[in-house]
Amino acid sequence: MKTFTSHKQVIWYDEALITDSIEQVFDPEYWHAQGKVIGSAQGRGTTWFVQTEQLPAALRHYRRGGLFGKLVKDHYWFTQWHKTRSCEEFQLLQHLVEADVNVPKPIAARAIKHTVCYQADILTQKIEGAEDLVSILQKKHLDKSTYQAIGHQVRLLHNANVNHTDLNIHNILIDKDNKVWIIDFDKCRIEPNRVEHSLTAWQRANLKRLLRSFQKEVKKRNIRWQKHTDWSALESGYNQSIFI
Ligand SMILES: Nc1ncnc2c1ncn2[C@@H]1O[C@H](COP(=O)(O)OP(=O)(O)O)[C@@H](O)[C@H]1O
Ligand SMILES: [Mg+2]
Repeated sequence: MKTFTSHKQVIWYDEALITDSIEQVFDPEYWHAQGKVIGSAQGRGTTWFVQTEQLPAALRHYRRGGLFGKLVKDHYWFTQWHKTRSCEEFQLLQHLVEADVNVPKPIAARAIKHTVCYQADILTQKIEGAEDLVSILQKKHLDKSTYQAIGHQVRLLHNANVNHTDLNIHNILIDKDNKVWIIDFDKCRIEPNRVEHSLTAWQRANLKRLLRSFQKEVKKRNIRWQKHTDWSALESGYNQSIFI
């Protein structure tokens, strides 16, 4: 990870992945002006998909959710550069790439300081031809092996001690080769390494949240999902230590 520092901002980046002008890559206008916006997705805000010189990428500006977010949309309290949302997510993604979990490669992250607050952005590898689980399940069932593969990715995440505090089915993508990807690591963290034979509280909480997310979307968006078959398959993928 390289660092670029100017007056009020710090940028962390992987020099092997970005050759575009590092101070401009977080500005959607930079990409629009060059006709290099290749798409967008709507989450809390807009994620822009852009064509960098090296690879297709996803550009996200950090935004707050909830009621507080309506008042202070995209400003966070500053303590240290390394504790900014963007720097933490960049480092977490790097840790997961090294652990061979299917997550987007981090390309660059930025924090800009304004007196006592900061704003943040991140650029990651775009997962090509991928769709999130919610939109897939609105159209079709998934087979047992895909659910096992999802469980396996969650297990790899947990083996790397990463607590995904927002593990829901909007944050799980499946690409055209049926490869499972986990995204959206804002506010997630590495937990202390402990040798335990049963699941720890945070691991159980991640799984519980994921289960609730399936159940919620059955009611809300009528997704095709059945607990006794689909969740069991996911759990079997999670519990299998050797997965083929
Ligand atoms: N690296 C990526 N590759 C492909 N799609 C992505 C990527 N990052 C985000 N997206 C898309 O953008 C949406 C919002 O991004 P996400 O990181 O989940 O932020 P949030 O939920 O906080 O808005 C995702 O649901 C997904 O559809
Ligand atoms: Mg999300």
